Amino acid sequence: MRIFSKVLILIFTFSFASYAQEGNPVYAKNGMVVSASTLASQVGLEILKRGGNAIDAAVATGFALAVTYPAAGNIGGGGFMVIHLADGKNTTLDFREMAPIKAHKNMFLDSLGNFLPDLSQKSWLGAGVPGTVAGLVYALEEYGTMDLEEVIQPAIDLSKNGFHLDYRLANSINSENEVFKNIEASKKIFTRDGEKLKIGELLVQKDLARTLEIIRDEGSDGFYEDEMAKKIVEESDKNGGIFTIEDFENYKVVERDPIIGNYRGYEIVSMPPPSSGGICLSEALNALEHFTFKREEWGSSRYIHTLTEILKQVYADRAEHMGDADYYNVPTNYLISKEYGEVIKNKIGETARPATEFHPAEIPRFKEKEETTHFSVVDKFGNAVSTTYTLNGSYGNKIVVDGLGFLLNNEMDDFSAKPGAPNMFGLMGSEANSIQPMKRMLSSMTPTIVLKEGKPLLVVGSPGGSTIITSVLQVIINVLDFKMNVYEAINAPHIHHQLFPDQIDYEPFGLSEDVKQNLISLGQKIGIERYLGRVEAIYIDQNKNCFFGTSDPRGFGKAVGF
Ligand code: GLY
Repeated sequence: MRIFSKVLILIFTFSFASYAQEGNPVYAKNGMVVSASTLASQVGLEILKRGGNAIDAAVATGFALAVTYPAAGNIGGGGFMVIHLADGKNTTLDFREMAPIKAHKNMFLDSLGNFLPDLSQKSWLGAGVPGTVAGLVYALEEYGTMDLEEVIQPAIDLSKNGFHLDYRLANSINSENEVFKNIEASKKIFTRDGEKLKIGELLVQKDLARTLEIIRDEGSDGFYEDEMAKKIVEESDKNGGIFTIEDFENYKVVERDPIIGNYRGYEIVSMPPPSSGGICLSEALNALEHFTFKREEWGSSRYIHTLTEILKQVYADRAEHMGDADYYNVPTNYLISKEYGEVIKNKIGETARPATEFHPAEIPRFKEKEETTHFSVVDKFGNAVSTTYTLNGSYGNKIVVDGLGFLLNNEMDDFSAKPGAPNMFGLMGSEANSIQPMKRMLSSMTPTIVLKEGKPLLVVGSPGGSTIITSVLQVIINVLDFKMNVYEAINAPHIHHQLFPDQIDYEPFGLSEDVKQNLISLGQKIGIERYLGRVEAIYIDQNKNCFFGTSDPRGFGKAVGF
């Protein structure tokens, strides 16, 4: 098997440099915020400079992203936060959206049982009960040091006074113009009387500012009770939705123990169900631990073949075994065990096994009792926060709640609406992830903190639907195994395989022609060239006591520190 050459690695680096905003990781000594929006990163940085901790800064960044990065930053969606505290505690917050009480298993099927993706992706029915406001407020109250008033005010100012649209944000919003102009409430904000927004113009969001002010003054209750919840339900009734006041009153943030894997001596702290991220990451790393790759083997067909075979098994298990663990008995312990890692390793041969030959893990008895965004924050006290939150699709279901100024998610599409019918990310599911009232839909979000000797080494996460897991995985491997710095690790082209479709998708310059031919000769199928994930990560140099951060050059965010 031929080895991918160093020369090609140099070509990658050179080619990618053309669209990189930062040729190196950003350095800081006292704290750092990396997010998909420069303005939101700066909001978080200001909070750190004022003496806030990483949780204060993460909450401020989260609210700011809802204003400055409307494709995925949100108060109408949900997400997950992984926290490492300076005292050594690791915890996670689940503020994933929840199926409304009136939701039912077949709500996205027609009378013949056909899946209706327009309903799960583009309508009020596609929205789960939002969790973001509850999640951010909970994080602040439990682990922050500042008042809500202080951390939310920058988001209020940005929405009230507006900010100038840069080239990429204007293009992003305008790419949805056809949809926005046909939804009256969205048209008011994201178009100018139906026309596209101009680069450089001020985006003012007065309704959103008012909504954030209510949250500032009344906390989480301001969103989930009283007038605001009533208004959301009223709009839902008018537009064919099924939200009820009880949906909002019942919404709870759940603090969960993280999935903690061990990979070559590093602890990998990540998100448990209802995210599949932590289990999938751990499962993949446990299998990969049986292989060693020399630095110059990065991108080689041996490495990509091995990774691909592991990923096929991981996604087979995801489809069959994973869902909201409060509603379904997810066999977490077995899936993340070293024993199962060895089972996966033993099945990897010299040639590819077709996707149809992959079966979900047989769980030994009695073993068990587009668009998303990520931000990473560290402070000088030793706290680290890894948050991924989402509206699901880019701009969610693209519906602004009239008068309240925020976009709704279309997260219900993350449920398995019908066995065998792929969701918007091509992911399949089973009973484990079927729709039930108040259940949380399975996610791929993988906010993760890698620890070395109990202290944060890497804070990492990504958007990208089904590709989140593979993007986060490869960045971790690039840092830990291939010894890349965090910029190189993110910038290096990723590959992706999710079992179905049975193909390796790859980034531009990600597979050289000879590696492709090698993989084909092993029985692998080569898929499409596309960008994968947008990782926002911070590497903590434990010896020099400083931070190196990179916002993925595939996106338009920024790492900032001081
Ligand atoms: N909505 C994408 C995810 O949660 O995986």
